[in-house]
Amino acid sequence: MILNIGSINADFVYSVPRLPKPGETLAASGRALYLGGKGANMSVAAARAGAHVLHLGAVGADGRWAVERLLEYGVDTRHVSEVAEPTAHAIITVDPTGENMIVIYPGANHAIPETGLNPAFALAKPGDWFITQNETNLQEEAAIRARSAGLRVAYAAAPFSAEAVESMTPHLDLLVLNEVEMEQLRDATGKQAGDLGVAQVIVTLGKRGCRLHDHADGWKGRDFPAPPVDPVDTTGAGDTFTGYLMAGLDRGQPIAQAIGLANQAAALMVTRHGTADVIPDLSEVQTMRRP
Ligand code: RIB
Repeated sequence: MILNIGSINADFVYSVPRLPKPGETLAASGRALYLGGKGANMSVAAARAGAHVLHLGAVGADGRWAVERLLEYGVDTRHVSEVAEPTAHAIITVDPTGENMIVIYPGANHAIPETGLNPAFALAKPGDWFITQNETNLQEEAAIRARSAGLRVAYAAAPFSAEAVESMTPHLDLLVLNEVEMEQLRDATGKQAGDLGVAQVIVTLGKRGCRLHDHADGWKGRDFPAPPVDPVDTTGAGDTFTGYLMAGLDRGQPIAQAIGLANQAAALMVTRHGTADVIPDLSEVQTMRRP
């Protein structure tokens, strides 16, 4: 099982001719509403990849649709709480090359009740995976708890904060971050992937795939290329990668195999507009693999 303490957002997505500049007003040529949030996207990706995912999170009364949708996509939502704060949302602009800019309003994501930890962890067993990101409260408390209960702990360091990464690294087995975040971390701390004290660090490289830094091979860094695709929207691709990766590791695949499938899933995701609602399922990813 994968236990994910993660964000749940309403994603308001606007298609724009280019990403706005400071002070500029732009007219969008289209808009759509999707289920999103890095946490929800990862839960849906892992569930679509075949894992049992228990999502611990929170929405306001205006977010019941999001919980229903998570459930519909195969995520175990029994520990998603309804709180007084409004459901979080994201304003996302996407340009014709698929690049995006995102502003999030955290709302209920920062009000996940600590009382939810006990019943959620009661369902987990040693060897299960715990994952979290940087869009909610309770990350460090839950990671400490997960470690002491014998779960393996993964952290996707987004949205990036060097302080958050530094507080999380002592509790981690796996860290996933993108190359910009890795550079920011290096600038802030002077540390390379091998200096973080985390057994495995994956740096995602966008269309170039990812690099695995593994203590088992002396931190040499091993590259895993992604299949070439024509991107229309890169939003949620990193989350899809991480969700698929976690599902593979949870079912005992060697990390190289889990990364291979995760790269394929992320590549397929960037050919689609939208976030959690359009994350491909395992059969689509495997069909892409063997056209
Ligand atoms: O990574 C993409 C996600 O970032 C979106 O779904 C949005 O909600 C923000 O959390």
